[in-house]
Amino acid sequence: MKKIIFDCDPGVDDAVALFLAFASPQDLDILAITTVAGNVAADLTARNAAVIRQIAGREDVPIHAGARAPLIRPPFDAGAFHGESGLGDLPLFEPAKGVEPGHAAQVIADLVMNHAPGEITLAVTGPFTNLALAIRLEPDIVERLGPVVVMGGARREGGNITASAEYNIWADPHAADIVFSSGAACVVMGLDVTHQVRSDPARTAAIAAVDTPAARASAALLEFSNAIERDIVGGSGAPIHDPCVVAYLLAPQLFTLRPCELRVETASPLTLGHTAVEFRIDPTAARIQWATGADADGVFALLTERLAR
Ligand code: BDR
Ligand code: CA
Repeated sequence: MKKIIFDCDPGVDDAVALFLAFASPQDLDILAITTVAGNVAADLTARNAAVIRQIAGREDVPIHAGARAPLIRPPFDAGAFHGESGLGDLPLFEPAKGVEPGHAAQVIADLVMNHAPGEITLAVTGPFTNLALAIRLEPDIVERLGPVVVMGGARREGGNITASAEYNIWADPHAADIVFSSGAACVVMGLDVTHQVRSDPARTAAIAAVDTPAARASAALLEFSNAIERDIVGGSGAPIHDPCVVAYLLAPQLFTLRPCELRVETASPLTLGHTAVEFRIDPTAARIQWATGADADGVFALLTERLAR
């Protein structure tokens, strides 16, 4: 059983990732969900996490709200992809249980310091602001973190918010720079891999056919993303970025990784948030693993099977 902290900005694909994690209690002990400003404003990402938690029936998991803005840059949401609420067109309600007291960054620092080295894995599916703040609050967490598994960055694929940057890194490049240059062991799910894992019609239909609250909500979220993908990008089948992070935690054999060094562009207005991924390194010294391939059918089989539970 892996102990995890799940840091996110729900977000349609964050929500599906949360459902996958909530549906896997025999594999993942979720110590806390922490939320951050990103896809929508911080109040909404915290509320959305509580909505998803309630649909999943997992009110045993605490939620802590975190950074309301990136470290240096002004907030820039991705409402065009996630809808005004952040949860597409999912019918919303006021969750019965709200967030717990305690800032996300402090909670991350405290939990990591109060567990054995390597015991806690961090899953990050939003801008890295909370983790960067936690590292600044308590630098010793870097040595104690199990792997940090993140969704962010792009190499071969180019960007999705600018020509050269992926949204999570671009939204807070300074935070991403702190995390990647900290020495923490990271597994990075960038667009190179998440663009291989798309909710095509057959995969979406398989989830829609499952009769659980989490599957019904996930199918609605995927259908919303697929419609946006058609309208804005012109493709069929939206990539499920954030669920790749949880799928990796549950079934790492579904992904191919390559050791690298990774630096984030923080200065250039043109390429801000670009991830420079260098494979010409000594692999034995690498702290960062870049995902290059995924078994997309395997990821969807896992998601569909877990959502049925
Ligand atoms: C990432 O950006 C967000 O909009 C998604 O939730 C995902 O985490 C993809 O670039
Ligand atoms: Ca996200």
